[in-house]
Amino acid sequence: MSALQIHKVLGVGKSEMVHGGPKPRIKTVDPFGKVVSLRPMRILSGIQPSGTLHLGNYFGMMKPALELQTQGEAYYFIANYHSMTSLFDAGQRRQNTLDVALDFLACGLDPQRTVLFRQSDVPEVTELAWLLSTITPMGLLERCHSYKDKLARGLAPSHGLFAYPVLMAADILIYDSNLVPVGRDQKQHVEVTRDIAIKFNQQYGEVFVIPEPQIRDEVAVVPGTDGQKMSKSYGNAIDLFGEEKATRKQIMSLVMDSRTPAEPKPDAEKNVAIQLLKLVAPAAVGQDYEDHLRAGGLGYGDLKKQLFASYWDYFAPARAQRAKLAANPDYVEQVLRDGAARARAVARTVLKRARAASGIE
Ligand code: TRP
Repeated sequence: MSALQIHKVLGVGKSEMVHGGPKPRIKTVDPFGKVVSLRPMRILSGIQPSGTLHLGNYFGMMKPALELQTQGEAYYFIANYHSMTSLFDAGQRRQNTLDVALDFLACGLDPQRTVLFRQSDVPEVTELAWLLSTITPMGLLERCHSYKDKLARGLAPSHGLFAYPVLMAADILIYDSNLVPVGRDQKQHVEVTRDIAIKFNQQYGEVFVIPEPQIRDEVAVVPGTDGQKMSKSYGNAIDLFGEEKATRKQIMSLVMDSRTPAEPKPDAEKNVAIQLLKLVAPAAVGQDYEDHLRAGGLGYGDLKKQLFASYWDYFAPARAQRAKLAANPDYVEQVLRDGAARARAVARTVLKRARAASGIE
């Protein structure tokens, strides 16, 4: 039997998540049931460097991602290749990429434990995207909501935009990822990834680990200044690390109704400033303000002032850390380079498996 045939028979084995210990582990058995490895689960996620991060990004994505760091081996990358489908300013991309790295490090990403890297520092991912694209049915991509949404928002329908989910599948599969924490809007992309992986495995043998999405059921849908979900594209965002004056202005511009301060407000828990305050203030403070607003006698201006003060305090340590890191760009660059080296070592072995199985090697 040739090496390739043996590989096809044995594959990479079947993996399953083993719960029970302090942390979930991934057990891989060969076709005869022998355990070939027991490793920490690999968690992977990507974030596009599309602009300054806001409170919605922090509570919706960063905070849960940072909490997951202790649950396994986390691989977090800055999806600069993906950003090319919607951002066409080179300087902006370069700047945003470093900003995202700074934001994550400032907020507590531990580069000893977690692998942080730029997507494009592992160019193997684009080769894998090609291999995957050859078995990806057009219909699968045509059904993707995010593609249709982007066209509806006025983006030109480029091939990159259409093939976006295939590159995302390559991102996920090239690191043998087990768990992919994403927002609800990306769930379909992880399902597409699973379909592609299963199809490739059926065609060429067991090459890829089948990932599981972990959908953050927005415990906190963070409202923006107009009460809708906070989003850069709605223009209702409050920056995570904005200038003091500008951020105060964003907060003071929160849209409120025209009831007088004296009026009781039985719907106090729905007030946008209260919802935001509860995210950044100690629980007792949030509750006090909510009770006061409900009872009547609290003006919206005072509420917003408290929100600004609590917001400013909450992020003070991270802000200080960010300033320190920003003054030390060589360190940040080194973290990204180390991350890329670690990520690349994994990517090379998985790509090699895919190349061997498909007869490219
Ligand atoms: N598409 C994701 C987003 O816009 C970013 C992303 C790219 C990603 N590749 C990924 C997320 C792989 C998870 C896994 O949010």
